[in-house]
Amino acid sequence: MDTAAQLPVARTLTDLLASVAAWRKAGLSVGLVPTMGALHEGHLSLVRTAKQRCDRVAASLFVNPRQFGPHEDFERYPRDEAGDSALLASAGCDLLYAPERAAMYPPGFSTNVIVADVSTPLEGEFRPHFFGGVATVVTKLLLQALPDVAFFGEKDYQQLLVIKRLARDLDMPIEIVGCATVREHDGLAMSSRNAYLSADERRVAAQLNLVLHEAIKNIRAGKPIADEEAEAKRHLLASGFTGVDYVAVRDAATLAPVVDLNNPARILAAAWLGKTRMIDNMAV
Ligand code: PAF
Repeated sequence: MDTAAQLPVARTLTDLLASVAAWRKAGLSVGLVPTMGALHEGHLSLVRTAKQRCDRVAASLFVNPRQFGPHEDFERYPRDEAGDSALLASAGCDLLYAPERAAMYPPGFSTNVIVADVSTPLEGEFRPHFFGGVATVVTKLLLQALPDVAFFGEKDYQQLLVIKRLARDLDMPIEIVGCATVREHDGLAMSSRNAYLSADERRVAAQLNLVLHEAIKNIRAGKPIADEEAEAKRHLLASGFTGVDYVAVRDAATLAPVVDLNNPARILAAAWLGKTRMIDNMAV
């Protein structure tokens, strides 16, 4: 166990298991906050919520290569373990689990966890490798730590549904909790990838949230959902977004298309500002 940093760090599964076993022996409940680092207030709010629910909280830091496509930003994804460790300590985290890539995926690793249905639309269409990578690493992290509760942000709403589904389907005795998106003062959802934005792009980025708000307002006022989806796309492109993958109103539990608001619905969007892909979503 490396305790030189601000927070104890478990770099191996053996170290993680030793810490969790000690907590369990003392009768303490355990929360897990999986992350890829480059932490911001959104991650810290997960840790704080975890700390309210559980006696001890571990956060994992692992930039998971399997959830990045060949031309995506795995190499340039921001990495700052020392900074992350200090932030986690300030939020009350008890342990950082930072496994090596070779330990997570040793030679011969051949398992891929695929969650059908909720993985298929939206992000699944535009990033076909993504949910297989997420489901595989999250399954490993959940089985390794075996927490009572694991915490994920609603910012990645489809990811949250995928993880809830896999935990249920695989009978994991773990509660999966989704936590509200934390936003900047102008409504931009906090994301590690916001660091890629130039000053101009950052100004435009806030439109994503505003456009979704406007669509929700109009849909609630009775305007047709398809019209509002199309209008939101037009508005994003007119505001300076360089591409829109989707703006879609979907059933909040299944992500199936909806034509009315008889069941809880969610509006979800993915759009590009130059080389940066941004996502956001809100309850309709
Ligand atoms: O949301 C993230 O940061 C990642 O997708 C996760 C859940 C930590 C899996 O790598």
